[in-house]
Amino acid sequence: MRILILGSGGREHTLAWKMSQSPLCDSLFVAPGNSGTFQVATNFEIDPTNFEAVIGLVKSEAIDMVVVGPEEPLVLGIHDAIKSDKELENVAVIGPAKAAAELEGSKAFAKAFMNRHNIPTAAHDVFTADSLQKGLQFLSTLKPPYVLKADGLAAGKGVLIIDSLNEAQATLKDMLENQTFGEASRTVVIEEFLSGIELSCFVLTDGKSYKILPMAKDYKRIGEGDTGLNTGGMGAVSPVPFVDEMFYNKVESRIVRPTIAGLQKDQLPYIGVVFIGLIKVNDDPFVIEYNVRFGDPETEVVIPRIKSDLVELFASLNQGNLKDYPLEIDERTAATVMMVSGGYPGDYEKGKEIFGMKGVDGLHLFHAGAIRVNDKTLTSGGRVMAVTAFGENHKVATKKIYDQIEKINFDGKNYRKDIGFDL
Ligand code: AMP
Ligand code: GLY
Repeated sequence: MRILILGSGGREHTLAWKMSQSPLCDSLFVAPGNSGTFQVATNFEIDPTNFEAVIGLVKSEAIDMVVVGPEEPLVLGIHDAIKSDKELENVAVIGPAKAAAELEGSKAFAKAFMNRHNIPTAAHDVFTADSLQKGLQFLSTLKPPYVLKADGLAAGKGVLIIDSLNEAQATLKDMLENQTFGEASRTVVIEEFLSGIELSCFVLTDGKSYKILPMAKDYKRIGEGDTGLNTGGMGAVSPVPFVDEMFYNKVESRIVRPTIAGLQKDQLPYIGVVFIGLIKVNDDPFVIEYNVRFGDPETEVVIPRIKSDLVELFASLNQGNLKDYPLEIDERTAATVMMVSGGYPGDYEKGKEIFGMKGVDGLHLFHAGAIRVNDKTLTSGGRVMAVTAFGENHKVATKKIYDQIEKINFDGKNYRKDIGFDL
């Protein structure tokens, strides 16, 4: 099989690393890829949202399967664009059709979906510039803190949690009237604040049946002890120790099953992964959000725990026989620590050479914002490299990482020293 992965982060390097091990994988391409995918595949300097260029590549390289990493091309309709090309009808696209990708593309759509299918989530209402007065009034009926969400994609920055009513009302006005988040905040979802501990649940589906992948927990804040600004994710652990059998069963019966059944009822074609962002409130799960792709850095701990052949697994999604697929999972714990550029998630410099990667032993280095230039590996983003290890529990796994992480060097490097601290 000739396979193309779209994207350029740690998630895509992890997928490429795993898929390249499959005997079913004859040739592997990544667009645009990074210095990590360069080790296991051929990179093409193509933007995944440039559909004409992507389709051109699928044709010129006679690709059989396209795996879509990030949300943007999915929300823009890459699945439909490939499938509607007469020559490419038989290409497998791992990632949902545009209509289903609205689960991530519009928070109002996702909330309506959850309400329609009785899936537990925070109470909410939706407002536009025309209903601003009602929105201001609605805020005054809620208890603080106030949760305001730009409806559309906002690169992970569209959710605001605000303590004071005055500030929340001023922010709502700004989002709707001045479109602080551009098109994304033409519509704003206001919801009840839920207090609990978050976790990520990835569900593979062929549109009919599903398999729940190992749960993971990511660490979103830049600072130790979960303090400071939000980032794309500073580390992750899988499995999640606080997920016992009872909680798992609640997630499956109250959330996963109605989600997959809801997709079918609403005729939303789905081949790929549903990433359910969950929050555990007391002993009950609620959905914080849906994403229509793998999470990053959760992928860097979830995928290494899959023992099965990932190409075969993705092919079973496309063939509609996931139900019979014997998914095998590594029982050990995987942890990952993200090395980031100094200053991230604020301003940071790029182009710093990365040294010392060959000196580490028994770890997986998944490159994220890192590129290959001549014979050097240079930083090219805020999140630079995910360092993953296995252990019998998260303490053993993170100790393995922290024992060696200092061997990897680049100017200004930063990482959290407490991944798993709260487990
Ligand atoms: P989202 O982009 O929807 O995942 O939201 C980003 C983050 O905001 C989540 O990971 C939560 O930490 C937080 N968040 C979103 N919605 C709520 C809510 N209703 N209650 C509490 N925290 C929330
Ligand atoms: N780690 C969260 C995300 O990928 O959205």
